[in-house]
Amino acid sequence: MLNYQLGLDFALEQDKNDALASFRNQFHIPKDKHGKDSIYMVGNSLGLQPKNAQAYISEVLTDWATLGVDGHFHAKNPWTTYHELLGEQMAKVVGAKPIEVVVMNTLTANLHFMMASFYKPTKTRYKILIEADAFPSDKYAVESQLQHHGFDAKEGLILWKPKKGEDLANYEDLESILESQGNDIALILIGAVNYYTGQFFDLKRITKLGHKHGCMVGFDCAHGAGNVALNLHDSGADFAAWCTYKYLNSGPGSIAGCFVHERHAYNKNLNRFAGWWSHNKETRFKMRDEFDQLPGAEGWQLSNPPILAMAAIRASLELFEEVGMEKLIEKSQRLTGYLEFLLTELGTDAINIITPNNPQERGCQLSIQVKHADKSVFNKLTNLGVMSDWREPNVMRFAPVPLYNSFQDVYNLVERFKKVLKN
Ligand SMILES: Cc1ncc(COP(=O)(O)O)c(C=O)c1O
Repeated sequence: MLNYQLGLDFALEQDKNDALASFRNQFHIPKDKHGKDSIYMVGNSLGLQPKNAQAYISEVLTDWATLGVDGHFHAKNPWTTYHELLGEQMAKVVGAKPIEVVVMNTLTANLHFMMASFYKPTKTRYKILIEADAFPSDKYAVESQLQHHGFDAKEGLILWKPKKGEDLANYEDLESILESQGNDIALILIGAVNYYTGQFFDLKRITKLGHKHGCMVGFDCAHGAGNVALNLHDSGADFAAWCTYKYLNSGPGSIAGCFVHERHAYNKNLNRFAGWWSHNKETRFKMRDEFDQLPGAEGWQLSNPPILAMAAIRASLELFEEVGMEKLIEKSQRLTGYLEFLLTELGTDAINIITPNNPQERGCQLSIQVKHADKSVFNKLTNLGVMSDWREPNVMRFAPVPLYNSFQDVYNLVERFKKVLKN
């Protein structure tokens, strides 16, 4: 563990010795009102634009302009196989095998497609368990799945809640829910890293527990992909889905990722929706054949994919490929630990970090509860050029992202915090 120190010199020294420091230059950093780089701490919401995204998107635009429909087969990177370029790189980011990962659709849509296959309720086993503070879209999605199958959404939803007076969910409570209600639960769907608290759950432990009780287990990895070591294959999870516009820097509302465990790769008996892109690639363009399911996660695709959106992800994934998740996580832990150290050194009870302090139980995001839900703290920081976010009722989220944030960013953030809290 690093011996953190106060003072700007320490931050500068860390940046000087940071092997990943140069990656910051590969991103566009929004400016503050003085024309200086803002302190961008909100990559957990929307990642910054990689500078090479423009070239990759331009390549597609040029191929489209010059080749028209022939771009499907003759573009520099042909559009019919474009998503395959991404699948392999994405698989490394989330710790999966290439056959388990596909880039398609959007996150909530993918959760629904996954539930079409893995939520198989019966009269007696139909409930869905989620974490209490799941992202609203996930909650709405599972409620609508319950209703779609004719169940009462309230009655069918089980919440894994933190103990009274605590902020974080704990595994003993999960175990006792499963001991008492495991036979009623058809599906467990958990946010791998909770969007509000930043708590990174033990995916393997949850999956093992769920499977022991006969439940399907899936994860929403929106806040995990490109942030923590998800090891999706080893976790044994049945499925996972994530967006790519946060830590994966692929642009607002961009196309999402999806994981289906290898053990389901060749199972043709799962309920699923189909389209021509889930059909055997070799015969897809013959158009007259009986449906022939593609194996693996690709078999869940429906439509031919949006290549312009994929070009942006390609730009970002190349950077991930170059750095590798291991080095990224190593820096992430140092950088977030530094933020935690400086905030703790402020010695104030005006703020309280609710994210776990064990680096294995969090990614780069720290969630900070503000006393009396005083949103003016957030507004003043914003005025001082800090880009972060506020989540009701009382939390500010800061994500020093190892690909583009520096130790100096973290130092400057806490200096501004000091200013705001003094006033
Ligand atoms: C954890 C989580 N789940 C779901 C969503 C919804 O994503 P989308 O609008 O891409 O479906 C988000 C969006 O930020 C999220 O953070």
